[in-house]
Amino acid sequence: MSVPEATVGTVPGPDEPFDLGASEESLERLTGWCARYGEFFRVYSPARRRHTYVVLAPDDIKRVLVTNHRNYVKGVGTDQIMILLGRGIMTSEGDFWHRQRRMLQPAFHRRVLDRFGPAIRAVNAEYAARWAKRAQRGEPINITEAASELTLDINLSAIFGRDLPFIRERFGRNPFDIVHTEANRDLRFAYRIRSLAGIVRELIARRRADPSQEHFDFFGLALGARDKDTGAVMTEKELVDEVLTLVVAGHETTASALTWTWYQLGRHPQFQEWVAASAARLPDGDGLDLERTEEWHEGQQVIKESLRLCPPGWMMTRRTLEPDVLHGVTLPRGADVFVSPYFVHRHPGHWSDAERFEPARFAEAPSAARHRFAYIPFGAGPRHCIGENFALYEIAVHFATMARRFRLLPIDDAPPQVEARINYRLRSDLMMRIEPR
Ligand code: HEM
Repeated sequence: MSVPEATVGTVPGPDEPFDLGASEESLERLTGWCARYGEFFRVYSPARRRHTYVVLAPDDIKRVLVTNHRNYVKGVGTDQIMILLGRGIMTSEGDFWHRQRRMLQPAFHRRVLDRFGPAIRAVNAEYAARWAKRAQRGEPINITEAASELTLDINLSAIFGRDLPFIRERFGRNPFDIVHTEANRDLRFAYRIRSLAGIVRELIARRRADPSQEHFDFFGLALGARDKDTGAVMTEKELVDEVLTLVVAGHETTASALTWTWYQLGRHPQFQEWVAASAARLPDGDGLDLERTEEWHEGQQVIKESLRLCPPGWMMTRRTLEPDVLHGVTLPRGADVFVSPYFVHRHPGHWSDAERFEPARFAEAPSAARHRFAYIPFGAGPRHCIGENFALYEIAVHFATMARRFRLLPIDDAPPQVEARINYRLRSDLMMRIEPR
């Protein structure tokens, strides 16, 4: 490693101490600091009694997430998530994480994802019928609530498949509904999520007792997954943690992406009309497979631009295992590093007129248009989002189904009140007027 000239003491940053990510004010404070200190600065955390380094230069991000990723663990925030999700792939590290990731990865292969198409389309068709009734009655839609329910329905049906009716019957309503009905991500929520472990254990026993029943869902794929080296399957505890991870990780982020995209389409009716006209040329129903949605350029551009301006996973954290050089500065062992898709996606050196919603930014092939690490809504490197293609498929089917049928209009012009804690989302529910096309 070359000896850097600068030391940590020369890194710019605000004098006032602040715990990034721990308070409602993080986004506002960071907005000011990014403008003032640029793409690499430090903030002293009183809770952790050390500095947090905010990294916004795409080359540094590449080093943290890809080229030198072995020198980093996830760090701040993971402890809290661990109470919620146990030791699943979201929170684990090292060899154990690697093994779990290798075992789960095939379930997210494109060929496999295509088979989730019928479930994704069926849920959207059901919501389209509901929205049609609302449109007829002239009632507005609570987009936040609808997006949350719809993504939960899709997610649960992808995870539990044919067991879902059994779950409802056996445990009354849908016990996994709490991901949608509980707004706070506090200890009470964590306790309630952990109490779902018993249900997952019962489902494991049920499926293992009757292997003759074929199931196609994430749960079945995880149950059948084998360690490449040892041939071992996952233990009951590992399965519980992975299933709960998928329930939680796949829900709020996707719901938030749907809500933000409707928000943007409401603010930019010209793009809504553009997307609606192109959606009407796509096959409706069964023909809307993974390939067709991936080739739907107008839809993809709108979704990508929405994920640029409003990335639900707005902040990622890492911690150095050994000293590392970022931006010409040697960070000590145990340094907290924050990488924020929200701010990288607004980096003035990589995005012109960054606050403007402009889907055409994504019209060109990504490599030609921008630095690969200036756009990271799903993270990057070995720990990038395992559900990326599933989420993009689900979001595209939603807009292809709805935009051709309905026009959604904002109810007011007030600037949005946002909340940036674990996810970047609207603070209050997004209500929109709906008209049939
Ligand atoms: C628009 C929707 C989504 C967004 C914006 C999103 C974003 C992200 C981001 C930024 C990360 C990386 C975190 C880090 O490196 O610290 C991540 C990881 C992850 N996501 Fe997603 N995600 C979405 C949907 C999903 C879905 C649908 C699933 C599952 C069905 C999922 C499962 C996961 C898992 C398990 C990880 C951890 C992967 C690992 O550490 O190996 N996500 N996601």
